[in-house]
Amino acid sequence: MTGNQPPPQSVGPYARYLQAIKSLGRPIVLVGLMGVGKTQLGQHLAEKLGLPFYDSDHEIEKIGGLVITEIFDRFGEEKFRELERRVIGNLLSGEMIVLATGGGAFAQEATRTVIQERAVSVWLRATLDTLVYRTQRGKHRPLLQTADPATVLAGLMAKRYPLYEHATLVVDTDNFTRWQTLDVVLDRLHAYAVAQNDGVITQS
Ligand code: S3P
Repeated sequence: MTGNQPPPQSVGPYARYLQAIKSLGRPIVLVGLMGVGKTQLGQHLAEKLGLPFYDSDHEIEKIGGLVITEIFDRFGEEKFRELERRVIGNLLSGEMIVLATGGGAFAQEATRTVIQERAVSVWLRATLDTLVYRTQRGKHRPLLQTADPATVLAGLMAKRYPLYEHATLVVDTDNFTRWQTLDVVLDRLHAYAVAQNDGVITQS
């Protein structure tokens, strides 16, 4: 080695930690019930990883030129689910992104299959009390425009939680601030990426 060469560029441990997650090379998809914080967490996660962020509901609204409640009112839930499936399929066809999905997406078999085939999914789990609290404000969720949203949420939990179990990773969000949850999600993704890479090395 000659004395004139520049020193090797040092990459800090945190950059390496984030790089390991990015080495997954597949989109990261957040699933879970309404109000659990998928959009906000997804934005922070994408920012940390330097990846584009998408929210499937926002993309549906852009395509339809209508907000979600109007799509439900004018075309019904079935049409909404069809659009949702198409939008998510398209978003998961390209580069690595972070995607927050609407609460019903992963409960639909066809949409779940696409996510399972193409992405790493993270179920953000919460108890009923947490979800009731977090969905108190806002009128933008058609399924919760009822006198008793807690009962609706409990019914959706009973139906969907067994399906959300199919996510690659599960992270409990009760009692955590959004920053704490972000750290847990990053740690879980990192552990998963390391395990995947170990698998590749062992198999080769
Ligand atoms: C829905 C959840 C909503 C939205 C639509 C239906 C659901 O998204 O997709 O109102 O079926 O749980 P969020 O989970 O982002 O509120």
